[in-house]
Amino acid sequence: MLSKKQARAFFLIGTLVTFLVFIGLTVYSLSEGNDQTNKENLTAEVVRGKEIWESNNCMGCHTILGEGAYYAPELTKVIDRRGEGYIKAILMSPVPWQPNGRKMVAYGMTEAEATDVISFFKWIGEIDLNGFERIVSPLAKDRFNN
Ligand code: HEC
Repeated sequence: MLSKKQARAFFLIGTLVTFLVFIGLTVYSLSEGNDQTNKENLTAEVVRGKEIWESNNCMGCHTILGEGAYYAPELTKVIDRRGEGYIKAILMSPVPWQPNGRKMVAYGMTEAEATDVISFFKWIGEIDLNGFERIVSPLAKDRFNN
């Protein structure tokens, strides 16, 4: 049984040590050599693609980097999975894309808009994710054979 004094020392030292470990790992993660964000490849097209992504609420149905909704497929590695031509056709389609039953919004994008979104997907797909391939919710996995 610890005395009150020992318990206090245990608490203080424990807090200090974990705090220092936390600071150390933060500095390590943010140091230049450990940058995995692929930020040198951020171009104007990627930024425009990201704006289209945000303003159309794509995350209302899809996930990217595992974030978003589970109605539609995970898109982090969609370029590897589907290729550019396929994605462009979906984004430019005047009718909803729905080979598997659920409807993707028919955005009817221009070629330039679709190309920007594809640049954004390429950039996201090239981030070093420490081996994370993609997250597919059990629901999406059953529903979408990918
Ligand atoms: C209302 C929900 C919804 C929204 C919003 C939505 N999507 Fe989709 N999307 C879907 C569904 C559902 C599918 C799958 C259709 C199928 O395979 O039958 C899909 C498929 C896709 C695919 C093909 C994925 C694959 O693996 O086959 C891409 C790429 C895509 N969407 C991009 C986007 C982008 C970019 C946006 C925003 C501009 C967006 N989606 C917004 C529902 C949505």
